[in-house]
Amino acid sequence: MFARTPRARDRPTTIRRAEMSISAPTLPGLADEPRNGIVNVATVPMRSPFRYPGGKTWLVPRVRQWLRCTRKPFVEFVEPFAGGGIVGLSVAFEGLAPKVLLVELDEDVAAVWQTILNGGAKWLTDQIAAFPMSREAIERVLSQRPASTRARAFATIVRNRANRGGILAPGASMMKLGENGRGLSSRWYPDTLCKRIREIAALRHRIRCLQGDGLALLRDSAGRAGAVFFIDPPYTVAGRRLYRHNDIDHSALFAAAARLKSDFLMTYDDSREIRELASAHGLDVREVPMQTTHLRHKTELLIGRSLDWFTG
Ligand SMILES: C[S@@+](CC[C@H](N)C(=O)[O-])C[C@H]1O[C@@H](n2cnc3c(N)ncnc32)[C@H](O)[C@@H]1O
Repeated sequence: MFARTPRARDRPTTIRRAEMSISAPTLPGLADEPRNGIVNVATVPMRSPFRYPGGKTWLVPRVRQWLRCTRKPFVEFVEPFAGGGIVGLSVAFEGLAPKVLLVELDEDVAAVWQTILNGGAKWLTDQIAAFPMSREAIERVLSQRPASTRARAFATIVRNRANRGGILAPGASMMKLGENGRGLSSRWYPDTLCKRIREIAALRHRIRCLQGDGLALLRDSAGRAGAVFFIDPPYTVAGRRLYRHNDIDHSALFAAAARLKSDFLMTYDDSREIRELASAHGLDVREVPMQTTHLRHKTELLIGRSLDWFTG
């Protein structure tokens, strides 16, 4: 049977939340903790309105471990490359930080967050509930130039559900067979989507989204105390195919992270370039096993100042 490590078991759960204003955070149960190093993603609540390529649902239990152990008190959890935002959402829903900031450069993706968090959730759920999912209806929505942030958000949700792998990058194709050959409607769960959007909107006092450059934000945040940064940029190889914005200066990103006064956790693909950058900045690196959506086992990297909390 899986046992919690003594480190986590013995630690009073209140210590690291000294600055947090919310009470009784929902601590996850043992079932969420990795077994044989691999997280069972079915144990992590699905909260994002996106199916996001490169999404980090599988990392949520590790982030919980990290936040329980981080030494400096924090009031804001910052995700400078937010994408589908499952990590920031989990932090907000579980009360692991009083505030969450999502930053995303892609205007389409950011439009979804801003619509949900800035009063447009009802409008968006009404559109989703009324949408007659079909190839013609999708083409109609996607052929129009969105006239508002809300319209952009709705078109993005439709495209995210219709495209293969949820990929929103230019050139991504629409899926043909869908799940079990059920075609386009196989990824269209309007009730579930609306429920998730309403739940996120209910937490809007705790979550905000900025559309902009996560690297610039990190540079500007060098001297900032009271935050923690979860940094999940487009990966060096796969990022090109998956995201409209994928051209990150990884060397500059490492330099900005290493200058942060606050604690941070980065995730990356396991490549020589990334290991060399981590080593050049004196950062700690751990390999973390994961299972892809195609059930392939693969290793990714966690990078931070000290990853002693990581129990493998
Ligand atoms: C690996 S994905 C993040 C996935 C996310 N952690 C999740 O679980 O869904 C990287 C994201 O960074 C965004 N991005 C790329 N360049 C950016 C930049 N300079 N600033 C902010 N976001 C950027 C991409 O659009 C993409 O959504």
